[in-house]
Formats: sequence, C-alpha cells, structure tokens
Amino acid sequence: MSRPLVVDSVAALRAQIRDWRHDGLRVAMVPTMGALHDGHISLVKIALDRAERCVVSIFVNPTQFAPTEDLDKYPRQLARDVDRLGMARADLAFTPTVGEMYPSGFATRISVGGPSAGLEADFRPTFFDGVATVVAKLLLQATPDCAIFGEKDYQQLCVVRQLCRDLDLPVEIIGAPTIRDAHGLAMSSRNAYLDETELRIARQFNVILRDTAAALAAGAGQSHATEEASRALIAAGFQKVDYVEARESLTLAPWHRNGEGRLLAAAWLGKTRLIDNVEIPST
Ligand code: PAF
Repeated sequence: MSRPLVVDSVAALRAQIRDWRHDGLRVAMVPTMGALHDGHISLVKIALDRAERCVVSIFVNPTQFAPTEDLDKYPRQLARDVDRLGMARADLAFTPTVGEMYPSGFATRISVGGPSAGLEADFRPTFFDGVATVVAKLLLQATPDCAIFGEKDYQQLCVVRQLCRDLDLPVEIIGAPTIRDAHGLAMSSRNAYLDETELRIARQFNVILRDTAAALAAGAGQSHATEEASRALIAAGFQKVDYVEARESLTLAPWHRNGEGRLLAAAWLGKTRLIDNVEIPST
C-alpha cells in the first residue's frame, strides 16, 4: 500500500503542487471533512481519472457548524483516513489545523446567493457562508485543475459551482454520483451516529424519495406529492422532516414540470439529521 504525503501547512501544500506543475502534471482536489467512507473514495477515483495527482483535504471546518450543531462530536479518525487514502492511491492529504486555516485576525466571509437560498439554508442559516469561505480558501491554496464534490450534498455542489463561476476561480467543478449501500442509503459520515433500528429506518429514506420522484414524473401535484413524502417519512420512523422539495436541477429554482428536476429532502432520526436527493425522471 502506498502512503500519501501528509502536509498540514499551506506553504508545504503549495511547494508540492508547484513541483508537480513543474513536471507538467494535472492536479485534482477532493475537499472533505474526513471520516472517509466509500463515497469519498469514489471521489478520489474520479479525481485520478481526471488528473495525474490527487490532493484530498481533511478539515472539519468550524465555520460551517452552528453553535447548536455537532462540531465537537463530528467523527475524527485521521490515521484511518490516511490509510484509506493510501489504498485509494491518493497522493497528498492536506490536514490543516484550525489556526492554519483561520489565523488570528481572520475576518472574511464569502456569501453566495442564488442556489444557497432555501432548503438547507432555512435550517442552517450560516452553513453555506462557511462552506463557500473554506472551499474558496482550499481552491486558492491548492489551485487544482479540477475539484470533485459529491451529489449527495446537492445544494452544496450547486453553491460551489456558483462560487467558482462568480469569482472566476480557474477550476473545473465535477459533480460525482452518490454512493449508496445495498439498501440505497446514501453514504454519509453521519451514518456512524445511527444505531441498528435507526439504520433500518434510514434505509427507507431513498425509497420514499424515489417513489415521490416517480409520482412527480407521472404527473402528481407537487405539494400533494411532497406532503405525502413527509407523511411517509414520519410513518417510517423519522421524527421530524425539515423539507421535501422539488427544484430545478441546475439553479435550484422552483421546479416546473418540463424542466430537469431534483427532489431534495432533510429529515431527523433521533439526534441525527440526514439529507438525500434524487433526480426526478424525465418523462
Ligand atoms: O462536504 C463536505 O465535506 C464539506 O462541506 C466541505 C465541502 C469539505 C467543506 O468543508
């Protein structure tokens, strides 16, 4: 098993990337918060199909967590993550400290409009500013040719695309399909919080979303179909549904029947908040 180079300073990251560029190599980046699972590893594979070198950042970004959220509890397992990256043949793990990313006196926040409105933002109002700020920093630190983001966090992917377009960041953003377990549950670091019973319930999430997307494609009214989906999630054992909404795939504007659509949802199982999304099949 090869072992990725592990660096925790921006200076060391830039020095290595400068060497690769000098040798004419393309660089791809996979930004993560660690606790790597098969979903992340699929992003590394896509990165290595697109570039000769793959950088994976592992940084639990405090600015995207609200004070009430799970920042302290968020799983951290660096040694295991580095082993997994070695097996996946990633070249470099960038593992900055909070002080390296946000040195004392740091005072900038990036606020993206457009696709960041509604959905997650209604429940996590500071989340996308935190994501946009850290992603802009990571992309400027590493200056990769391309960066890979999972469709699992679909609204985040749309926000990152908007950020790069609006700020002319010279990086291609690649969206990668969600990796699911044998029951269709989307891989997520937060699945680690679920006990056996919750896991069984969580596996109904994608089934209910797929059924609802199929009903929408077949002509069901939007509010009726999404209310039915919320009811079905509660009946399956979820305690609370934050939203189930159909949106236009690229802009996340409200969905109109003849445009490409995405059904997005967030729901609570105990203390764990799960999100998922599926394409609305075109008719
Ligand atoms: O999706 C994540 O893991 C994070 O939101 C990201 C993009 C690494 C920014 O911290």
